[in-house]
Amino acid sequence: MPRAEGMRKYSFSSRGLPFQAAILAGIVGFSLTMIGGNFLVAADRAAQASDATPGLRTHAAAIARNIGRALDSGDDIRATTLARRSLQAFPGTDLFVLSETGEVLLDTPTGLPAPRLKDQESLGDNAFTGWVGEGQYLEIKTPVRGRLLLLGTLHLRQALHVPAWMASIKVFAMWASLASAILTFLYLSCAMRGMVGLHKVLERASYGDFYARAPQVGAFEVRRVIQRTHEAMVSMAAAADEARKVYVETALALSKTIEAKDRYTSGHSQRVAVFAVELAEKIGFDEDRLETLRLGALLHDIGKVAVPDNVLLKPGFLNDEEFAIMKRHPMAGDRILAAIPGLRDMADIARSHHEKWDGSGYPLGVAGDSIPLEGRICSIADAYDALTTKRSYKSAMPLEQALDIIEKDAGTHFDPELAKVFLAMKRNGVGYKALKKPESKEVVAQTTAEEEIQAAKGA
Ligand SMILES: [Fe+2]
Repeated sequence: MPRAEGMRKYSFSSRGLPFQAAILAGIVGFSLTMIGGNFLVAADRAAQASDATPGLRTHAAAIARNIGRALDSGDDIRATTLARRSLQAFPGTDLFVLSETGEVLLDTPTGLPAPRLKDQESLGDNAFTGWVGEGQYLEIKTPVRGRLLLLGTLHLRQALHVPAWMASIKVFAMWASLASAILTFLYLSCAMRGMVGLHKVLERASYGDFYARAPQVGAFEVRRVIQRTHEAMVSMAAAADEARKVYVETALALSKTIEAKDRYTSGHSQRVAVFAVELAEKIGFDEDRLETLRLGALLHDIGKVAVPDNVLLKPGFLNDEEFAIMKRHPMAGDRILAAIPGLRDMADIARSHHEKWDGSGYPLGVAGDSIPLEGRICSIADAYDALTTKRSYKSAMPLEQALDIIEKDAGTHFDPELAKVFLAMKRNGVGYKALKKPESKEVVAQTTAEEEIQAAKGA
């Protein structure tokens, strides 16, 4: 069957889409896990800060008053001692005092690293949270005043508890994304298993083959699509068969109309089809190829519709000019059949049935294996029928004599191997119009042209 125009051949895999989806699932899984993890961290930090802020704020105010008095009196050592003593009630807490210009007025040196104010998040009312290294903290800022003036700002920090799993949220997100990717790939690969078979069915349909079927596997939706496609293929196959049947019947009717003009060639195509199929069966053609050959043999002379009646029906031999006109019928047949969808292979037979093995035939003058095998078979069948039936310009030749001529022309006119098989069949009494054998003597002798035609039609 002809391949659909413009079809681009490519391989289809059920792994392409699952792989792409797995990558996407991995990215989405990683992102969602990171977003979810960070949300939980933020919520936990807010909860801890909310719980600790009131107590820390009260404590910061008391420390600020005591330190303010000490600093106001110029006793830095006492201020530091007060600060350290105050911190003992809040384990994990640190403090420092900064002046308005950022100068460190007091610091407890065992505490957290120096502050980075820009990374802090305000919780309102001078409470802040932020990160220092891997640790989170809550910070309360309280003014430190002396008797009359502002001495600085107290920064009281308390470390917040960070759950261990939160510290490894990235690793967790990576494992989550990997699991998402693998599960997505496995699921989609399983769900789409049937798509490969479905693709093959549709690809075959593009070549005009509506009989391929796919295993119904994969997800429910995929199995339903495969089932619907099969139902569509059945309808398309029926329609294609019907259309082809109409084409063939039309062509055969046309061919019979031509033969009906000349009583001498009536039934010729049917007999050629019988001889051709016999020979092709002998050399091992399968059923599909036999059917193509049978139709091609029946239609091999359809190009004679293009030959004028004064040439086609002329009694006796044709002159050179008339023969030149008659020689156009193989190409005319090729054009007629090639224009009909599904009959391209028959067109090759119509075009090549007058080619000769040595290249001296027509219309193209091709030789040997360049001539389609079906054309070489029809050439022998066509000649055998022409020799053994009566024409307006000659009487029917005895079968043995016709076989001798085919044997003589094997290697020049006919394919020598095919001729050898054909001769062996007919001389051994095999098939239609074979040489008489003792038990088939009467049959051969009593066979009439009409019976031959009927036999050929029934074949
Ligand atoms: Fe012909």
